[in-house]
Amino acid sequence: MPSHPIIITLDGWSSCGKSTLAKALAKELGYVFVDSGAMYRAVTLYFLRRGVDLSSSEQVQKALAEIELGFVFNPARGASDIVLNGENVEPLIREMQVAEQVSKVAALASVRKFAVQQQQRMGAAKGIVMDGRDIGTVVFPGAELKIFMTADKETRVQRRYLELSAKDPTISIEAVRENLERRDHMDATREESPLRQAHDAKVLDNTSLTPTEQLHIALGWARAAIG
Ligand code: CDP
Repeated sequence: MPSHPIIITLDGWSSCGKSTLAKALAKELGYVFVDSGAMYRAVTLYFLRRGVDLSSSEQVQKALAEIELGFVFNPARGASDIVLNGENVEPLIREMQVAEQVSKVAALASVRKFAVQQQQRMGAAKGIVMDGRDIGTVVFPGAELKIFMTADKETRVQRRYLELSAKDPTISIEAVRENLERRDHMDATREESPLRQAHDAKVLDNTSLTPTEQLHIALGWARAAIG
């Protein structure tokens, strides 16, 4: 790790390749990569399993107190899998049932407080790349490099459809499009920490960029910020 590790934040719309870039950047720089969305997805999975009523703050608080989240490095993916109370739930949190509920769960103030505290602890030593929706605005407003990612909506739908249909051939592109539009809308309009471009973020539109091209651009920014 370089002598002056920094914090790199990557925020943006659903399915625009934030995790792909964050993972590659972290690997190049020898940094830790944290997928903050996986934390909201794991909380959602727990709530679904327990049938937590989202309109009951008591039930939500009680369930949050029962949750312990961790990450374990998975060499096959070159990234960390999320662990929920000792169970590796990485494949489960990517399923559509979770995607359908996650933005509702992530809009709850108590859930955000729970996740943000842990995220800030993970970044205390710097040398971290974290992707999400509010990382450059709320979690690490002082981050040395903030990237806001975007891509044309149909391109994002196609990318997510390819990813999900490889695992579940019954999934329809309409269902993927509908989920993506709904989550984008909820994430950008919620009261608590809505998706916003930080005023000092660099914008990366990767509609027509390959993963290698986007990495090249981001690495240039990162090296300039590291100095
Ligand atoms: O599907 P995609 O990979 O784009 O989303 P994700 O990063 O896995 O995040 C899933 C959902 O969690 C988002 O749609 C948001 O509702 C929520 N989220 C959030 O509110 N704040 C974050 N920092 C990260 C995710």
